[in-house]
Amino acid sequence: MTARESDALVIFGATGDLAFKKIFPSLHGMAKRGRLHVPVVGVGRESWEVDRIRARAQESIEECGGGIDPEAFAKLASLLRFVGGDYNQASTFATLRESLRDAECPTFYLAIPPSAFEAVLHGLAGARFSDGRVVVEKPFGRDLASARKLNQILKDFFDEHSIFRIDHYLGKTAVNNLMHFRFANSFLEPVWNRNFVESVQITMAESFGVEGRGRFYEEAGAIRDVVQNHLLQVTAMLAMEPPIGSSPDSMRDEKVKVLKAIRPLRAESVVRGQFRGYREEPGVADNSGVETFAALQLCIDSWRWANVPFFIRAGKCMPVTATEVLVKLRLPPQRVFSCVEIPEHPANYFRFRLGPEVEIALGAEILASGDAPAGAGESVELFAFRDRHGMIEPYDRLLSDAMEGDPLLFARQDEVETAWSIVDPILRDPSPVGEYDKGSWGPDRADEMAAPFGGWAAPQPSPHAKD
Ligand code: BG6
Repeated sequence: MTARESDALVIFGATGDLAFKKIFPSLHGMAKRGRLHVPVVGVGRESWEVDRIRARAQESIEECGGGIDPEAFAKLASLLRFVGGDYNQASTFATLRESLRDAECPTFYLAIPPSAFEAVLHGLAGARFSDGRVVVEKPFGRDLASARKLNQILKDFFDEHSIFRIDHYLGKTAVNNLMHFRFANSFLEPVWNRNFVESVQITMAESFGVEGRGRFYEEAGAIRDVVQNHLLQVTAMLAMEPPIGSSPDSMRDEKVKVLKAIRPLRAESVVRGQFRGYREEPGVADNSGVETFAALQLCIDSWRWANVPFFIRAGKCMPVTATEVLVKLRLPPQRVFSCVEIPEHPANYFRFRLGPEVEIALGAEILASGDAPAGAGESVELFAFRDRHGMIEPYDRLLSDAMEGDPLLFARQDEVETAWSIVDPILRDPSPVGEYDKGSWGPDRADEMAAPFGGWAAPQPSPHAKD
């Protein structure tokens, strides 16, 4: 059954940062692709005229959306409305109802702090908006207990199939390609298991720091900010069993199943780091113990992955900005070519660059050419590459999908809660935080963790990198 398309979009928090950085540029992108036809009502506490929100949208698209396309912007401006008011006042929602006229299935995007959710949901219920959808942002809670509470609040007002929890990694083509590459090909499945895979590494490195978000970061830290959500989603896509069909729930069932097979983390399997200088950032405590880097080893207790370590590391102020997955295959069982050294690292691997470039590579050995001694080998990569500039931005895709009622690229309640339950023990009982220099790969202890498996592989500059 296809879901009904939304006939209006309401953005709570339209005057805020997220709307400025992500939502207006996405709406502009949707208008450019001919995918935006419904009224867009911004809601905020300010009493702005509609011209003010149009000007804000224009500024946002110029600054964060790569520039204005006059036709697309004219379309967006013609659809924009604004309702100002207190989220605790019924009158705000009465005005919203008037502004939406006869819309029957609006999408409500809560681009507001979770502490304001309840007031808005009560307001919507009071104004009898029962047939809508609700889109919520990460962070979805700050631990398992608060995520459960948030889910309960949402479910008091909306059915699960009307709740769309955003994890923008799920809107990235490169991330979805992991599943596509696995399940749209037949050559991978025979080797995608403990018999052939030695280890899996996921690195999310950012060469920049917290960029003025010190206050937010103090509440989050790397584990809450990117491991619990983005990187566990990537892990689930790499490790899940084939879904029984293409329905959103068949996919999400398999993700939940593999997340449930991941052992909850213990302090010994986690290294936390903080870059030198973090404590001088605005909004950061002088004695902050928050991690800006985390490295961890996951154990997946499943038939497919028993004893295959999955390493994750994520950090700010790293030497490069790159998110990459490396699936290392085991060494060949025997040395056949006399002058081939048995390498320290497996020559065979799958490498998925998820950002900023998009690449898939298969590492292989071939006979060396030129002056090399007879029988000598050479490592090469068989390579697939996509120009990410031609791709749809994650928020653009996610907003369109939510408005069409397609839940595939959104996190289901059990997915979010299972992911929290993996990291919850180390949030309650964190390992000590070690300092590291900006531009390094984090504390030395992180290197020790992966050393028995050939160490971490640093993502290399891409030949396709663009400025
Ligand atoms: C966000 C985090 O969710 O993801 C940021 O809050 C992080 O700290 C960002 O920088 C990374 O997203 P992307 O799409 O640039 O890889």
